[in-house]
Amino acid sequence: MSEEGTASPAIAGGRFIVLVGLMGAGKTSLGRRLAKATRLPFIDSDAEIEKAAGCSVSEIFERFGEAEFRSGERRVLERILDGEPAVVATGGGAFIDAATRALIRAKGVSIWLRADLDTLVRRTKRRDDRPLLKGGNPRDVLKRLIAERYPIYGEADIILDVDDEPVKESTERLIEQIASFAQQAKPVSAEP
Ligand code: S3P
Repeated sequence: MSEEGTASPAIAGGRFIVLVGLMGAGKTSLGRRLAKATRLPFIDSDAEIEKAAGCSVSEIFERFGEAEFRSGERRVLERILDGEPAVVATGGGAFIDAATRALIRAKGVSIWLRADLDTLVRRTKRRDDRPLLKGGNPRDVLKRLIAERYPIYGEADIILDVDDEPVKESTERLIEQIASFAQQAKPVSAEP
């Protein structure tokens, strides 16, 4: 199961595989690896928003504000989830939007990559282009977002703890969990 391309693209029963969770949880790196293993396309929703807007996420926040970013994010995810099944790494706020969450629920299997505060602080230090972390002490911001968002991420179909584990191992565990989720779930075509 762990080797590239050895899990089936049908592993999630025709659903999208949608990764959710806070900044620094590893949605993009785990998503890329999972896409390779399942031979599904990989889509990063932030990258799609940047393509559609013709500028970076930071620039969208600066020029138009967070509310405008959120509505763009909703539109882009609607378009992505209207296409062919893929592994989708979402931006940390996407699953918090009720409409986006309902769409993900209808079309995909949602996976929360759960990480603790220390892991998130450590991993978010690798990049300095996240607008929400520029406005204050990153640890304080992440702590507040954990309090606000973790109850909502908890609605995901699968919860995967990703602290202290190399992404390769997390991906292998996740493949097994997706397969057993899909076996128990109703076929995607039978869902409303
Ligand atoms: C955000 C997370 C970012 C990006 C934007 C807002 C959030 O994505 O969408 O900066 O609200 O948590 P990542 O989670 O991929 O860093």
